[in-house]
Amino acid sequence: MSGFNLTEAQKKQITDLLAQMTVEEKVGQMHQLSPSIVGGFDVSFEELIEMVTDGRISNEEFGRIMANAERDFHEDDIRAGRVGSYLLNDPKKANELQRIAVEETRLGIPLIYGFDVIHGFRTTFPIPLAEACSWNEEVFEASAEVAAREASAHGINWTFAPMLDIARDARWGRISESAGEDPHLGSVYARAKVRGFQGKNPADRERIATTIKHFVAYGAAEAGQDYNTVSMAKSMLHNSYLPPVKAAVEEGAMTVMAAFNDYNGVPCTVNSWLLRDVLKESYGFEGFVVSDANAIRECVSHGIAEDLADASRKAVNAGMDMDMGSGTYSAHLAQQAADGEVSAEVLDEAVRRILTVKMALGLFDHPYVEEERMARYDGELDKKHRDIALDAAKRSIVLLKNDGILPIEKEQKIALLGALADDGENCLGAWNADGRGSDCVTVKAGLERAGISVTYAACCDTTSGLNRQELDGAVKDADVIIAVVGETNAMSGEASSRADITLPGHQRELLEAALATGKPVVALLMNGRPLALQWEQEHVPAILECWQLGVTHGDAAAAVLLGEYNPSGRLCATFPAMTGQCPRYYNHPNTGRPGSKSKFTSRYLDAPLEPLYPFGYGLSYANYLYSDLTVEESGESFRVSVSVANTGDRAGEETVQLYIRDVAGSIVRPVKELKAFKKVTLAPGETKQVTLTLNKTDMGFYNDDMEYCREDGSFLFYVGGNSRDCLEAERKVVFSQNV
Ligand code: GLC
Repeated sequence: MSGFNLTEAQKKQITDLLAQMTVEEKVGQMHQLSPSIVGGFDVSFEELIEMVTDGRISNEEFGRIMANAERDFHEDDIRAGRVGSYLLNDPKKANELQRIAVEETRLGIPLIYGFDVIHGFRTTFPIPLAEACSWNEEVFEASAEVAAREASAHGINWTFAPMLDIARDARWGRISESAGEDPHLGSVYARAKVRGFQGKNPADRERIATTIKHFVAYGAAEAGQDYNTVSMAKSMLHNSYLPPVKAAVEEGAMTVMAAFNDYNGVPCTVNSWLLRDVLKESYGFEGFVVSDANAIRECVSHGIAEDLADASRKAVNAGMDMDMGSGTYSAHLAQQAADGEVSAEVLDEAVRRILTVKMALGLFDHPYVEEERMARYDGELDKKHRDIALDAAKRSIVLLKNDGILPIEKEQKIALLGALADDGENCLGAWNADGRGSDCVTVKAGLERAGISVTYAACCDTTSGLNRQELDGAVKDADVIIAVVGETNAMSGEASSRADITLPGHQRELLEAALATGKPVVALLMNGRPLALQWEQEHVPAILECWQLGVTHGDAAAAVLLGEYNPSGRLCATFPAMTGQCPRYYNHPNTGRPGSKSKFTSRYLDAPLEPLYPFGYGLSYANYLYSDLTVEESGESFRVSVSVANTGDRAGEETVQLYIRDVAGSIVRPVKELKAFKKVTLAPGETKQVTLTLNKTDMGFYNDDMEYCREDGSFLFYVGGNSRDCLEAERKVVFSQNV
């Protein structure tokens, strides 16, 4: 477990510091700042935000304006001990401001620098939703380790990652930042990310602190509308949304970010049951809790605080240790402490947690980033890092449909269509940290680098109409048409929910026109969420989900298109057949009238019963056959074995998945729950026996009193290559009470 292994001397240093600190200095530690934009362009900052939101200026233009904006870095506030943390990606400026904090303040407490390093820093990796489809914890850990190495060189000691929100609604834009819908896969992802970012010792200069975010259940925002209200039973919260959080705390995650949303009517920012009872008491979390951006101030608009003073008091008393950017604590907390509205114990507990993280990161020993590291990753991409990114990218690709067109032959003439096919910027995905569009290999470049003869025409992008002449010209001599369709970076991520998750713009017309030529058509998807692809599934012979894979996007896509890499990705989130099916997820209760062809069952009049592609789904160029399922009880666990045969003519990697169903419980249980998975490589014709172990302690659930229950009775065991197509066995299970 990484995280907090402070020595007694370090703990004493913190206690001694606390004893010397004034109330103002304590409040200063609880205040995170970003540089204020003060001008450098001819409209107000608010106007500029509106311009990029309504499309009057592009994201790239906005980025360029921001890069040249004039900023106020609040040096005097730092000098006066009123700042404890900074949101910044600028190593030289970081050292400059750090020198003020360390050498010019009364107690010399170093700043902690945070930044959103979500899926890579300069070497941009696949978006988390893509990477999670690799079901590969080595991949999860390796990408975080690379990101930490690159970000720490830029003076960043703390990332606001991993984002661990369980996401079941594809309309929600932030599903792109998540590891999908499943608590078990999400927990494996959580542990690996904490290990990757923090390492065994987070004081190592190439490691950075993690943030479990967003605490909690932000992915359940009503109707998939960002920032919306969240209501759910405590049993659902503990069984489906908290497991990745608990896993990350156990792995030693050092901070937690409270979510914007309310939980059952109390905003997470001021929810003491969540922050104190669940996180700090029940889970024993030792780090600090930071608000989301401006979220303390937003408690007034939530309607939980009368004014900013009320918001300040409610937040700190609920266990919110640090204020990200709202300035509420720095404006009100000292007076509230003086007036006894906030006790010295509450203040000291918050500051102790912040100092503990700074101490565990070694900031008191090495507060500055070394000059010689600052520019190390600013030039060409690091070759080793890029290779790690390419491996992750290949493993993130999911083959959704293949009527035999794929893989393509090198000699075939390819017509490549769609503006996204030649667009580096949109390979980066949402929450790009320090990556550049120019770093990215596009699909077009990837095919050309692989020696494929490509005739390219944009034909249409995510908003423009179809240029039919361009298309006709490009496809004339083609053997195969590859149409790259999907979403831009801005169509997923924060504040980017979509009420219609079909292909945006006129991209379906592009597919229709390509199909009308009578030539084989491959739809290559670049997107940040599951899309509603029922028409595409019915009409397009091959569909390859490539997501937004970062700097190696085109190389990974080309490797799979050409069969150099046999696609092994498996969906971490369900694809609904149509938007109206959202939210859609596999681990749902059965209901008293499970959906069927008969009318009076849980179904829609105008939608299919099933989603389009289920959780865990993905095809291969090989073919895997499952047989001989055995389930043996041995003491406090079950050994579940199955034979998997590769009946295809290519080697491949299969992800064998084990699900259970608790057939009857004191509360209704999901029809399936993922409990274990194992990757297995199989040569053509090879058969392997795969054994997965399930500990009986993992077969229980939380009830609404948050008691963990393991109830004797019948359990179904399912094993297969996805959550739908499984072999099944039933067992009567008796739990020994003394475990
Ligand atoms: C944003 C996001 C959060 C991010 C923070 C800092 O609003 O909700 O995930 O870490 O602000 O950028």
